[in-house]
Amino acid sequence: MAALPMLVPGNVEKLLALMPSAMNREPHNLTLATTGASGSVFLKQMLTILAADERVTTVNFIASDNALRVMAEELGLSGRQKLMSQLLGTECPRIVQQNNNDIGANVASGSYPSDGMIVLPCSMGTLARIANGIAEHLIERAADVCLKERRPLVLCCRETPLNKVHIRNMGLAADAGATVYPLIPTFYNRPASLEEMAREYCNRVLAHIGLPQSGAYHWKA
Ligand SMILES: Cc1cc2nc3c(=O)[nH]c(=O)nc-3n(C[C@H](O)[C@H](O)[C@H](O)COP(=O)(O)O)c2cc1C
Repeated sequence: MAALPMLVPGNVEKLLALMPSAMNREPHNLTLATTGASGSVFLKQMLTILAADERVTTVNFIASDNALRVMAEELGLSGRQKLMSQLLGTECPRIVQQNNNDIGANVASGSYPSDGMIVLPCSMGTLARIANGIAEHLIERAADVCLKERRPLVLCCRETPLNKVHIRNMGLAADAGATVYPLIPTFYNRPASLEEMAREYCNRVLAHIGLPQSGAYHWKA
């Protein structure tokens, strides 16, 4: 058997690459977190797609307090009461809300069989906490668990312009195994509405974690 690289700073990436990754498995149990960055319309589309996708058995959904503030601005929502009904027009039993203050919730443990996590949109504050291992709330803890268990973690970061701290934190998160998936939509598919633009972005994120969507746009297909 070939010798493993020694655990010294220069070899961390080589060791991580040898660890099994869940990226190639079709996910059934997803964690979806939303934070206080702009882009609530993208979250709404993601929830709509996941609610309709019968391959997905469970979505553990976590919203930070600041996400609610932004959703109030951008979608006219009010508070946490019946959040799924406010967002989707109906409750969806497969989408289970978890409390961001409950660090004892299922997704806080690596023993819970989550297949991966998407943070959409991901604020620079949440990015900073994830990139630096500050797992104070459930969102950051669940992300931390994904990284340590080598499960897919997609950070849909949104801010402009970026300062050097943001860029450095994106680098740290990527080095630790996350996919930094900036909240930048495509234009070459000529979306006719904001919703269509957001849906196509979500299709791309889901294809990235092994959950391709039938209605997705394919360049020159
Ligand atoms: C309307 C609105 C839009 C915001 N947009 C962004 C944004 O695009 N990116 C970002 O990093 N922060 C944005 N913020 C600031 C974050 O909400 C703030 O930094 C917050 O502390 C993030 O908290 P969280 O990461 O715990 O959700 C916005 C705030 C408001 C009220």
